[in-house]
Amino acid sequence: MNVYDGQRIAAMLAAREMTETDDVSDADIIILNTCAVRAKATDKVFSALGRIRRAKKPDALFGIVGCVAREAGADAFRRIPELNFVLGPQSYHKLPALLENPDSKLLNIDLGGLEKFDEMPRMSVSPAVAYIPIQEGCNHCCTYCIVPYTRGREISRPYADVVRDCVHAAETGAIEICFLGQNVNGYQYTDDEGHAFRLSDLIRAAAPLPGVRRIRFTSSYPTEMTDDLIDMFRTEPKLLPFLNMPIQSGSPNVLTRMNRPYELNLYIDIIDKLRRARPDIQISSDFIVGFPGETDADFEQTMEIAKRIKYINSYSFKYSPRPHTAAAVMPDQIQETVKATRLAKLDAALNEIQREFNESCINREMDCLCEGPDKTGRHLVYRTPYMQQCIVAAAPHAPAIARIRITAANKASLRGEFVG
Ligand code: 5AD
Ligand code: SF4
Repeated sequence: MNVYDGQRIAAMLAAREMTETDDVSDADIIILNTCAVRAKATDKVFSALGRIRRAKKPDALFGIVGCVAREAGADAFRRIPELNFVLGPQSYHKLPALLENPDSKLLNIDLGGLEKFDEMPRMSVSPAVAYIPIQEGCNHCCTYCIVPYTRGREISRPYADVVRDCVHAAETGAIEICFLGQNVNGYQYTDDEGHAFRLSDLIRAAAPLPGVRRIRFTSSYPTEMTDDLIDMFRTEPKLLPFLNMPIQSGSPNVLTRMNRPYELNLYIDIIDKLRRARPDIQISSDFIVGFPGETDADFEQTMEIAKRIKYINSYSFKYSPRPHTAAAVMPDQIQETVKATRLAKLDAALNEIQREFNESCINREMDCLCEGPDKTGRHLVYRTPYMQQCIVAAAPHAPAIARIRITAANKASLRGEFVG
């Protein structure tokens, strides 16, 4: 979501004849697009702002957009008085007002808007992977999560607007469409004539567009995985056989306190259904360890589910208490040292599963999407249908989508060669 927001902001500045620079001391405007999901991310923003304040040109504008702006609000100006703007995740389309009136200070952390989608200029050339947001906010109030506060209640974008974005992306070069939402499979939109649309309808609309070869979506909430969507994995070959569906914990007690009221059996049933629809599907997850009250036995249940589902790629985090969330004030907060030990143990198991899966890909041929050259320029980086990174020797006129045979693998990436 932040990558997408960043691309839209960059397109807006480019439309005003601005060009990118890597050098803070050379920039006329510096925008930090920020994440508040864990405390560490927020802390990094304020230390970066301190560095930027010292390095920037005296008259350069600087400020923050995104979830930290929403969380900190006017307090950000008290902490860093030189800041020019603080704009929440649904207000960054107000930036042009500041460019027109650079001596003002701009604070806007309002919620409730899809305005930014319409007010920001479109990208004239789509990246190969076009991120298309289909909703803002989230209605699942997981007790650890700041997102319902920073991005607000869930709003699905009108079906026709999303389809129009897909058409524009396809016409300007998109090869992969990635639908985005905090609760992407909960997408639900009813038009003026009473037609109800779900994510499966969006996939069906995007698949025939010329040039579009791959479709995916992220992130999914387990109980929103309805049969119409599961069926798309059976019927739509462009839908990649890869799904991010976070489980967060393998302990029913912890899930209840997280306010994620699904039975583990139901979660496992959904994965079984997905595997029946698409036998080569693979799943990834997010995990939180050290949630308040998590016992050793709870944690062992998380270890068990990770091994049972065999997630091929996961993100695991130590629980981080966040403002405006119920879990932050729960009793039985877990010590940092315990969290660190549990995280290391879970990561070791997840890495092992990932390495095994990567090694099982050796000798397979897969259609992969080119991301561009690596740092040395001697290799090209491709993404497999499972989002693994695959490194190939650079070749002139290498295709954007190439058939690649996997020749080697480790935990982090694959190596391959072009077939034919
Ligand atoms: N502490 C740790 N991890 C969190 N996440 C969300 N909130 C927190 C928190 N307070 C994780 C969840 C989510 C991912 C985006 O970030 O695992 O799926
Ligand atoms: Fe946060 Fe995701 Fe839960 Fe929504 S579903 S509250 S975004 S963790």
